[in-house]
Amino acid sequence: MNEIIKGKHLDFTIAEVNEVYAGAVGQLWEMLMGEEIHVGGVRETDILAEKAGLNRNTTVLDVCSALGGPARHLAQTYGCRVTGLDATVKMVDEAVRRTELEGLSDLVSFRIGNALDMPFHAGTFDVVWGQDAWCYITDKEKLVREARRVLRSGGMIAFTDWIQTGNMNDKEWEDLNTFMAFPYMETLDGYEKLLSENGFIIGEKEDLSNDFVHHCHLYQDKLRNELKDVVISGFGKELYKAADEGLDKWVRAVDDGKVGRGRIIGKKER
Ligand SMILES: C[S@@+](CC[C@H](N)C(=O)[O-])C[C@H]1O[C@@H](n2cnc3c(N)ncnc32)[C@H](O)[C@@H]1O
Repeated sequence: MNEIIKGKHLDFTIAEVNEVYAGAVGQLWEMLMGEEIHVGGVRETDILAEKAGLNRNTTVLDVCSALGGPARHLAQTYGCRVTGLDATVKMVDEAVRRTELEGLSDLVSFRIGNALDMPFHAGTFDVVWGQDAWCYITDKEKLVREARRVLRSGGMIAFTDWIQTGNMNDKEWEDLNTFMAFPYMETLDGYEKLLSENGFIIGEKEDLSNDFVHHCHLYQDKLRNELKDVVISGFGKELYKAADEGLDKWVRAVDDGKVGRGRIIGKKER
């Protein structure tokens, strides 16, 4: 926890994150979680959508939209217009392809770009949305400021993210973040502070770490059983071993209450 207070973070560049998601690791995440690359799948997307009050008149910006699974689900289910923003060209290309295939391109579109310098005018969206991705962002205060800028007055910010929930030594902190290519994880209180200090009123703040424990064990079982041979034959023994070892460290940290997941809903102050 001290590391966050001191502002320590690992030096991952956007190019390194792009490499992760353009390569085998991006594919592995989809195999583990599905095309909605976050914990809890469609069910979690619906919970967030209801809390954010989405309907057919809402314009949503999904920041770090990856394959666009949630964007398509939101458009299909709530009739809203969704723009996905992601920095990895391969993810955006694939998101566009799948969206065309599903006939949703009139409601869902994608832009390549950095969440820290969003390519949109001020006041464009009703909702800024994020699922389990802002842990990759190197400057979360700047992200929150960008979210505020592109939101209309009274607009909502609604997101889930992987968070730090307990103390750990420097080595463990570095191992866990390095395995995921996270510069650092926020705490739930840290996010609340960032939002309150940057023009948002917090509506809800929920620690979802118990559910996260359950899901991390499911992902570990899936990797060790159902996916083991597929991953080894597709990507090689080395990658399987690295994935298994890294995930195991995460599962232990999750069990020990050191890392978890949270959900926050906020409203842009007028
Ligand atoms: C875990 S995936 C997101 C999953 C997605 N939210 C979903 O629920 O399906 C992380 C994504 O964040 C993107 N990303 C990471 N850092 C970014 C940044 N600074 N700007 C834009 N996209 C970024 C990656 O390219 C990757 O596609």
